[in-house]
Amino acid sequence: MKPIRPKGIARNSYQTWLLVNHPQTYTARLRKQFGDIVALYGSEGDAFAIVLTSAGAQQILSADPDGYEAFWKEGFTGVAGSGSIWVLEKQEHRRERKLLSPAFHAQNFRRYGEVIREITQQKIEGWQPCQTVRALDTSLAISLDVIMRVVFGVEDPKFIEEGRKVLKPLRSTLHPSFIFFPKVQRNWFPIWARYARAKEDFSTWVSRYLIERRAGSQNTNDIVGSMMAAHYTDGTPMSGEDIRDELLTILLAGHETTATALSWSLYDLGTNPDKLEKLRRELEALGSNPEPELIGKAPYLSAVCNESQRLHTLLPEVARTLVLPLEIAGYTLQPGDSVGVSIMAIHHDPEIYPEPDCFIPERFIDRTYTPFEYLPFGGGHRRCLGSGLSDFEMRIAVAEIITHWDFDSAAVEHEVRHDISMGSKHGVRLLIKSKRSAPEIK
Ligand code: HEM
Repeated sequence: MKPIRPKGIARNSYQTWLLVNHPQTYTARLRKQFGDIVALYGSEGDAFAIVLTSAGAQQILSADPDGYEAFWKEGFTGVAGSGSIWVLEKQEHRRERKLLSPAFHAQNFRRYGEVIREITQQKIEGWQPCQTVRALDTSLAISLDVIMRVVFGVEDPKFIEEGRKVLKPLRSTLHPSFIFFPKVQRNWFPIWARYARAKEDFSTWVSRYLIERRAGSQNTNDIVGSMMAAHYTDGTPMSGEDIRDELLTILLAGHETTATALSWSLYDLGTNPDKLEKLRRELEALGSNPEPELIGKAPYLSAVCNESQRLHTLLPEVARTLVLPLEIAGYTLQPGDSVGVSIMAIHHDPEIYPEPDCFIPERFIDRTYTPFEYLPFGGGHRRCLGSGLSDFEMRIAVAEIITHWDFDSAAVEHEVRHDISMGSKHGVRLLIKSKRSAPEIK
């Protein structure tokens, strides 16, 4: 019997543009028209099948990882290098995750609570009453310094300053077309040439930094240290190039995403003063200067951060390319086809999240969601390695900001595509009202 293919439409540049730039409205439209799964068919008949429900996500993300290759591989290889975990597959991908995962264990980040708090304090101490600030500028600065301290382990102020100069252009010159239309990765495209230069400068800086680290103390607390000390199962260490590619991946995967999520949570609190007050009451009950670990576990703070990441889904979909046939929702997909999970559609499914367009942190207190209903960090064998760091950082930074400053949201924000992820059109403008005094010790 001929395999049944999912219903769908021809994939042209316009459909790709809609999916990239308007994932929420476009996937809602696709679900209305096609149901739980839809395929965008390429000119050669290959399908990009997108599941729009939690049940479909479970099927795709629980399937045998060896049936999948990396998606958008060409784009990510050019952007992050052939040693990047984004493009490694099967045995090599498993090997790399095994090597990197211990360093990313949430417990490892706990000791950095004070560092994250200090960094946040530095970035907000210059705020002035009656001033309008762009929250994304502040959160990008926080997230960059956290990566430099926690991931790179840079402590020397001179190296931190140099690092900022080298790392910032990587983000600002990255363009979504590098991933979605990799043919633009040619030096005669000015946008690519700028990124290639930034990548070159990054490479030089990392090489110098690794030499300095090798000559100094062998501190394995940070992620660079654990990469330098780690060995694959056959006893070989990671090469300098592999470390560089993974650091670039981590930077691209973790800098803007965490910063954007942090700025959206400030936006949501600024536009929902009752929730902001409720959160302040929870934090004040922890006493003055609570342990970062206590903050990281505060239930309403967690609910606020989760709800904000649901409402403003940063990575609208995750995808894989098939190397084995896959049965999904009664349809058969073939090697060469791709499958995607629309996190955006699932996060806005009214059956799972009633009033999906409203900011209601209480839903995360009242209910536990499965990993296929709430999945900002993707899932399965490629689930985000940095989720523990990002969650912890967000909670500490939100707590620090809202206990020290009164603010309102200064203007309505809209979601737009930034580079790999979605972001805010104006970077979340906050009207700073007044400095708050430290809470009483209870
Ligand atoms: C709010 C912040 C973040 C969000 C929303 C996010 C989301 C994601 C998603 C959706 C994926 C793909 C998962 C999949 O394919 O199933 C991913 C992969 C990844 N993320 Fe994150 N991420 C964030 C922060 C970070 C941070 C802070 C780091 C590192 C410090 C990081 C490192 C990575 C890496 C290395 C991968 C590739 C994993 C692999 O292919 O095996 N991310 N992230």
